[in-house]
Amino acid sequence: MDDRAESPAPSRGDVVTLRPVDDDNVRAVIDLDVAADQRAFVAPNVRSLAEAFATTKVWVRAIYAGETPVGFAMLSDDDEQPRYYLWRFMVDARYQGMGFGGAALDLVHAYVRSRPGGDRIHLSYVPDEGGPGPFYRSYGYVDTGRVHDGEREAVKVL
Ligand SMILES: CC(C)(COP(=O)(O)OP(=O)(O)OC[C@H]1O[C@@H](n2cnc3c(N)ncnc32)[C@H](O)[C@@H]1OP(=O)(O)O)[C@@H](O)C(=O)NCCC(=O)NCCS
Repeated sequence: MDDRAESPAPSRGDVVTLRPVDDDNVRAVIDLDVAADQRAFVAPNVRSLAEAFATTKVWVRAIYAGETPVGFAMLSDDDEQPRYYLWRFMVDARYQGMGFGGAALDLVHAYVRSRPGGDRIHLSYVPDEGGPGPFYRSYGYVDTGRVHDGEREAVKVL
């Protein structure tokens, strides 16, 4: 089924939820994209979904505003270590600046807190101009000093 043409336009203030990626929304999630000058900051969702397919300890969610898919989150979800790493996180360029990314991040934090040993969350980000560093800092992330493939690691205690 083609799910792409059916989503209503979201507006600021719509309730944000995280939902499984499934047969009903996978094409819409693949079609979500960041702005051209943001492409260095996050992989395309189709690549993330392919990586998730080959990974067991991963939690994958579509970000919805109301009934519209607006973004994507992927968490490395290892309760044996335990270690929770926000591997991919994006809001489509059309829907940025409407509060959806922040609301979705709050929901990711709530999920991690519900997991065994989920008292902190890690991520890494490209530290370039226009990148998400200031966004994450405003949500309480602090750099750990570690660098992975040119990306700065940050952590937030939950
Ligand atoms: C980073 C991202 C997820 C933020 O999503 P969003 O829906 O635009 O964020 P919100 O509208 O909820 O913004 C929340 C707050 O963060 C601020 N903010 C958002 N993106 C920002 C950025 N790149 N730099 C600085 N501040 C930012 C907003 O101004 C807002 O501040 P306010 O509450 O004072 O108004 C989104 O810009 C994005 O997908 N960027 C490209 C991909 C990316 O970099 N992903 C992260 C990979 S590690």
